[in-house]
Amino acid sequence: MSLLSELSELVGRAFGDIGLDPSLGQVQVSDRPELAQFQCNGALAGAKSAGRPPRELAEEVAAKLRAESSMLEKVEVAGPGFINLSVTDATLASFVNATADDPRLGVRRAEPAQVVLVDYAGPNVAKAMHVGHIRATIIGDSLARLFRFLGHLVIRDPHFGDWGLQMGQVIAAIEERWPDLPYFHSDGPYPDESPVTLADLQELYPISAARTETDEAWADRARQITVDLQQGHPGYRALWRHMKAVSEESQRRDFADLGVEFDLWYGESDVADHLGPLVDRLRRKGLATESDGALILPVVEEGDNRELPPLILETSKGAYLYGTTDLATLDHRVHDLGVNVALYVVDARQSDHFYVLFRAARKAGIAPEEVVLEHIRFGTMNGPDGKPFKTREGGVVALADLIEMITEKARQRLQEADIAQAYPAAEREEIARQVGVAALKFGDLINNRTSDYLFDLDRFSSFEGKTGPYLQYGVVRIQSIERRATEMGLQAGPVQPPGLDVERNLMLALLRLPEVAERAAELRAPNHLAEYAFELTATWNRFYETCRIIDESDPARRGSWITLAGLTRRVLVTVLELLGIEVPERM
Ligand code: ARG
Repeated sequence: MSLLSELSELVGRAFGDIGLDPSLGQVQVSDRPELAQFQCNGALAGAKSAGRPPRELAEEVAAKLRAESSMLEKVEVAGPGFINLSVTDATLASFVNATADDPRLGVRRAEPAQVVLVDYAGPNVAKAMHVGHIRATIIGDSLARLFRFLGHLVIRDPHFGDWGLQMGQVIAAIEERWPDLPYFHSDGPYPDESPVTLADLQELYPISAARTETDEAWADRARQITVDLQQGHPGYRALWRHMKAVSEESQRRDFADLGVEFDLWYGESDVADHLGPLVDRLRRKGLATESDGALILPVVEEGDNRELPPLILETSKGAYLYGTTDLATLDHRVHDLGVNVALYVVDARQSDHFYVLFRAARKAGIAPEEVVLEHIRFGTMNGPDGKPFKTREGGVVALADLIEMITEKARQRLQEADIAQAYPAAEREEIARQVGVAALKFGDLINNRTSDYLFDLDRFSSFEGKTGPYLQYGVVRIQSIERRATEMGLQAGPVQPPGLDVERNLMLALLRLPEVAERAAELRAPNHLAEYAFELTATWNRFYETCRIIDESDPARRGSWITLAGLTRRVLVTVLELLGIEVPERM
């Protein structure tokens, strides 16, 4: 059991002994570490129902704790009724030794395990991925890693956008530019090889999407093509397969560069055959209504304090949009994959879509109440002008270009800091890639998920401060200390009760992982992990300033410190792994 949960149980029992609810005994890390290591605020929370002053309750609980526990070094009541606690050095050492012996580092497996699905935003396949997709990928990947670490079964699905209006928009533009391509007039055969490249799609899609807003005839054409594509027009289908193939190839490369993997490679079109039957079912249930020629599923409820659009099941032309594909996909996820928790990691601007989708799914009985549906919204990554990050010319930045940009910056940084310069070129290049990706991911994950943040290449890639490279370098330094110790034949030994504050603080920090991981999962907030990794590294650095392991002559102390070094490395590597950050062997 973790130190915090054991303390909570202990304090809970003391509350129980004086006739109050044991859950009041919840203990947390102290807000004022100079006063005590831990605190419990339960007396304040319980005062009202007990009808007694909080300070009095706190004193009574404190007296029980002092009398009964040998774990506690100090029990004090402060302010209006906080109970401040510190544990004995022997207790600390014994918990740290237990953690060092545990392959899970003290982290419990979740009970019961759930089937958690992570949907990564649904990048549209009419183009390469761009910076708008970076956050979903980084945050989604970290959450998937965290839930898996906690023992859940995780299914990762990028859910490509490959069946809606965006396909009609780009096909319309290709048709206009190259009307002679076989896709547009003959009945085939259609070539396997196509002259249309990813760069063409990239160029045409945004222009066509913008034109849809202003040019009614053009919008109509795009809508018609979407319907024809969905209904099986062979030429459009051939072109569509080709567009999907070229986009997916580049998307796979981008994901691989970021070290992100998936269990499924599904897209909207994978439910194409289920859309008609689903819509029929909803019609029979009386849930679908006609409105202006379209078929909708209204989701308004009494007491709504804002106007909600309906879910559009079928447009007046007979096309399906992503409301319908999302609904059918959810049906598949719940009924065929057995998903209990579905997390949609998508830009905050799509909040309404998900609000409507989830309501529709409840109404239609597709997702019963016990299935958790959540939009994991996030803010935007902004450029120096405070607007979504763009190229100097104002265009969208392709993900591949962004990765190259940050890798180049990492190469420079390594050179400036004279790190890894003597290693073989291939290794140095691999380190630069790992440092670049770490800079990008940590720069994102350290922020509160829902806030916007500024993309700052210089700051993210620095070896100092709250950055990915700082943490990587910290771990690499511990690795090299351990290597030196091994070379000198120095042995690790059991962790001894701490003699110095820097040791005590390191041990306390090492014992925090279980609660940090649980909290991060509960709030779907990887920034808790990122913050913790930074604090632990800084705490280690303060420890190491005084505790020079190799120079220590007392073998018991030295052995204890070697074990602390190894445990610090394991905890940090674990947390960085949860953030999707790799640590080089050496730097
Ligand atoms: N592809 C849609 C877009 O780019 C988003 C789809 C949202 N749905 C989902 N399951 N991720 O706007």
